[in-house]
Amino acid sequence: MICSAAMCLAQCEKAPPQLGKAPVNKVVAAMTLEEKASLTVGEGISLSFLMQIGALTSDDVENKSEAYQAQATMVKKTADLVSGAAGATHMVSRLGINTMVLADGPAGLRINPTREDDANTYYCTAFPVATLLASTWDTDLVSKVGEAIGNEVLENGVDFLLAPALNLHRNPLCGRNFEYYSEDPLVTGKITAAMVKGVQSQGVGATIKHFAANNTETNRMALDTCVSERALRELYLEGFRIAVEDAQPWAVMSSYNKINGTYASESHDLLTKVLRNDWGFKGVVMSDWSGGSDPVAQMKAGNDLLMPGNSTQAEAIIAAVKADKLNEKILDQNIQRILNVQLKTPGFKGYKYSNKPALKEHAELARKAGVEGMVLLKNSNKALPLAEGVKKIAVFGNTSYNIITGGTGSGDVNEAYSVSLVDGLKNAGYTVNEELLGMYSEYIDEETKKLPKTTMFELPKTIEEMDVSSVASKMAGKSDCAIITLGRNSGEGNDRSSGKGDFCLADAEEKMIKTVASAFHKSGKKCVVILNIGGVIETASWKDIPDAILLAWQAGQETGNCIADVISGKVNPSGKLASTFPLKYDDVPSSGNFPGVVLEKGARDSAESQVSAAPGPPPSSPSEIVYREGIYVGYRYYDSFNVAPSYEFGYGLSYTRFEYSNINVGADTSQKLALTVDVTNTGDTTGREVVQLYIAAPSEKMQKPEKELKGFAKTRLLAPGETETITFQIPSRSLASFDTASSSWIAEAGRYRLLVGSSSRDIRKETYFDMVNEIVVKADSRALAPARDIDELKRN
Ligand code: BGC
Repeated sequence: MICSAAMCLAQCEKAPPQLGKAPVNKVVAAMTLEEKASLTVGEGISLSFLMQIGALTSDDVENKSEAYQAQATMVKKTADLVSGAAGATHMVSRLGINTMVLADGPAGLRINPTREDDANTYYCTAFPVATLLASTWDTDLVSKVGEAIGNEVLENGVDFLLAPALNLHRNPLCGRNFEYYSEDPLVTGKITAAMVKGVQSQGVGATIKHFAANNTETNRMALDTCVSERALRELYLEGFRIAVEDAQPWAVMSSYNKINGTYASESHDLLTKVLRNDWGFKGVVMSDWSGGSDPVAQMKAGNDLLMPGNSTQAEAIIAAVKADKLNEKILDQNIQRILNVQLKTPGFKGYKYSNKPALKEHAELARKAGVEGMVLLKNSNKALPLAEGVKKIAVFGNTSYNIITGGTGSGDVNEAYSVSLVDGLKNAGYTVNEELLGMYSEYIDEETKKLPKTTMFELPKTIEEMDVSSVASKMAGKSDCAIITLGRNSGEGNDRSSGKGDFCLADAEEKMIKTVASAFHKSGKKCVVILNIGGVIETASWKDIPDAILLAWQAGQETGNCIADVISGKVNPSGKLASTFPLKYDDVPSSGNFPGVVLEKGARDSAESQVSAAPGPPPSSPSEIVYREGIYVGYRYYDSFNVAPSYEFGYGLSYTRFEYSNINVGADTSQKLALTVDVTNTGDTTGREVVQLYIAAPSEKMQKPEKELKGFAKTRLLAPGETETITFQIPSRSLASFDTASSSWIAEAGRYRLLVGSSSRDIRKETYFDMVNEIVVKADSRALAPARDIDELKRN
């Protein structure tokens, strides 16, 4: 007996604790310092990232240049796991610690569709971009999209999706707005939570990103965002808070930028005080790819994992521990968090993935979601749905033929096919004018040949619209209706421009709309404009010309079918804007301070040159952006300062009408404050309505926006005459504003007006309640104070 116990002891001493079998703290205790450091940095950089930062060109990759060969070994490790994944973590096989595979992104899983010496393909579903998903205002549907994306993650051997992305649409020119949801934090937070729940229902991790205040792409790795604590708490952090509290994502990705002078990934205030202490986040924090500058500060801040990782970072961590500059206990905590999430991953559990997700079913879901998020902006004289007799269509605009399914960069997806508008129309039984189609095909082919080659992360070059003045009248004679598509693309690493051809129409586009509309109107025929765009553009100067405008966004691989579903009337549109379309760029509250200013050395407060918003490599010098508009972003600004938009937040037309009645506020069965309202379909087409609850809070103590969105719901499909009662819970949190002096959320005493509407400027019913005493709803950590006063916009 004694003998066998001794043998067992000896064996146990030899066999180190194994992750999953021994407690995590025992596994951490058995690690060497080198093993610990290796776990906190990823396995290395990916080829796509090297291309993004310009270290490799697509020619390097194609020709397998020397530079390529040098990087290839490092990249191979991740590529061997799942080709095209953005990164992976280190293994410590001695302790049963596995590698974890991470891949983008917001519109679907981004991996390479083909592999060397492998005849199989690995295409994924390109779902609609995030901005479209938010425009559905349908959390159940977004959850289903999340489930499908999560399933593709699982079945392709990936552990973490690097999405959803939820930075606020502070300014329409941010090049990544298509990856983000809205200008409003409630829509952002609720849609994000729905997506996270869907993804994680598949047993894989979601990574919410980019935390935080990363609303600009220009100079994104060295930009200092200067913003007040109140604007941070009420706007830029709020969506993340809702997502963390409602859905507990497995991971958060810190952003590239600095916030009030400190890199987000090095900010203890952000990653520990706010994220973990105030909100109770339980997962792991990873950096954005090569974000931040000091690995030791990142560990101390609570940024557990440095991605994609390199040995210099690991060496710095080891040296800091040895020199007593980093307490090993902090490192242990970082690693515990990494290991705790690893225990949940399919890779660790040995899941046998198929590499064959249900792409056909997912395509059907992508089509359904695409349709639900399209927004009908204009519909004069019932131009849409196309009348019974309208069958022959003349299709104008380059993007009708080359549809844009989503943006560029890490938010792009490698889908097997995409449906253009002409194909979508044909699938729906329309006849597309073949002569015009032939002209466009030839023109697009010719012009595309002239375009310079771009790398994956460069803005795609576009071709000018063809001059159609010589054929417009002929087409009007031969067709029943004209459809014109206007397209815009953008992506990571670049912001858009406020000029012609981007925010504004190019001259050739304006001419095309005028020429086609006038020719078709002369023949008594209608002209419909489709916007195949990822972000907001100028519409006020031309919206009177066409009969109808459908904002189709970038709806993923099924875009053409989705558009056809709406314009044919197969589906009644029910999308609404989750971001305002202003009358002009100068009306945007941040137009005077976007995309920031370059700081000459030591010239922090002097008049520095405005960073150009033109695409191109970002300036290397540090720059800053001051959020002077404070809490007045989007409709919060337009409504408080009486600035009329072109299309307001929450706006969207339907083929039917809805009436609101019986508004009531009181205590619900659980004694919580709740509001009910009846919504009736009073038109003659079945449809869905997005019902919005805004609150106008008393502002004796603190200035407040004129009103803020505090609840939203989408009805079920209502047949003509049918009514649904909508209930909104009103937690005390939604009455409160952030008081910087006390770092707490305060609901002032006074009258609260409850406004229920079909958009932010179409309020249908109103009621109120009075609060006798002020309530301190929650006290939060004092964190993220700006280093200097920010001269914020004040409400008159
Ligand atoms: C992007 C992230 C992305 C990462 C990995 C970075 O450049 O900012 O959103 O997840 O690359 O591809």
